[in-house]
Amino acid sequence: MEKKGVDTERRRFLGWISAAAAAVLAAFAGLVGVGFLYPIKRRKPRPLFVCLKSEVPKNQPLEIKDTRGRKVLLMLKTGGELMAIGTVCSHLGCTVFYRPKKKIFECPCHSGVFDQEGNPVSGPPQEPLHRYPVMVKQGKVFIQFA
Ligand code: FES
Repeated sequence: MEKKGVDTERRRFLGWISAAAAAVLAAFAGLVGVGFLYPIKRRKPRPLFVCLKSEVPKNQPLEIKDTRGRKVLLMLKTGGELMAIGTVCSHLGCTVFYRPKKKIFECPCHSGVFDQEGNPVSGPPQEPLHRYPVMVKQGKVFIQFA
C-alpha cells in the first residue's frame, strides 16, 4: 500500500518536471520565433577618424588600415578631394599596389590594372576596387569602413 503511494507521488513529480521542461522549451522556441519576426536593427557604425587632412601627402597615398586590418590607401585627388580605396583586388582578392608615377593600381597575381579611381583598365578584373566614403569635418578625415 505504501509503495503505491510513493509511485503515485513519483509519477506526479515526473509529470510536473515534464510539464516544466516542455514550458521552458516552448518559451525558448517562442523567443527564437519572435527574433526571426522582429530582428534587431543594428545601427550603421560611425565613420572613424583616421587623420588630419593636412597629413595626407600630395603626391602619394597615405596607407591606413580598415577595421579588419586590410590596407586602404587615402589619396588626395587633383581637385583636393580625398578618396579611400581598398587594396583587395576585385578579381580574386590579391593585394594591389599603387604605382604613383603611372597613377595606376597593379595586381601581381594576374596582371590586373586599375586606374587612379580604382576602375578596371586591363586584365581579368571586371569590378572596381572598393571605395570607402570619406568625410572631412574641420580638417579631420573620417572614413566609413562598414
Ligand atoms: S587577383 Fe588581381 S588580377 Fe587576379
